[in-house]
Amino acid sequence: MNNGFTPQIIAFLCNWCSYAGADKAGGRHDEAPQGLKVVRVMCSGRVEPRDVIECFTRGADGVLILGCHPGDCHYKEGNHKALRRYHLLKKMLPQFGIENERVKLDWVSSNEAKRYTEIVNEMAKSISRLGPFNEDGKQ
Ligand code: FES
Repeated sequence: MNNGFTPQIIAFLCNWCSYAGADKAGGRHDEAPQGLKVVRVMCSGRVEPRDVIECFTRGADGVLILGCHPGDCHYKEGNHKALRRYHLLKKMLPQFGIENERVKLDWVSSNEAKRYTEIVNEMAKSISRLGPFNEDGKQ
């Protein structure tokens, strides 16, 4: 990657769609980024802005939130809530010295293994280009 830098990426995956998609990607032996760590949550709507910020204070270089496509959330409105929080979070990121590209929300269904693989690998490339996150906001 970038001068031996392996981006540490936390991916919050909703249990019902995105985690199942990731599981299928694993079954296909798709290549996942080395520094990717998956956190299984019941719904993308359970991920709060403070959870994302905490990832950075604990050494993450990037955070992904993946949920069911709009209309498919098993808790009906969870992913809509996730989207609202995501917009709020994006406004907060500069206060923490976190570049916009370090946090991403997207949708992956249980039969979208290929899409899952593309999203996680694209995120790793994007974070590699940015370099490691420095908590003080200095690169
Ligand atoms: Fe998947 Fe809500 S259950 S986003």
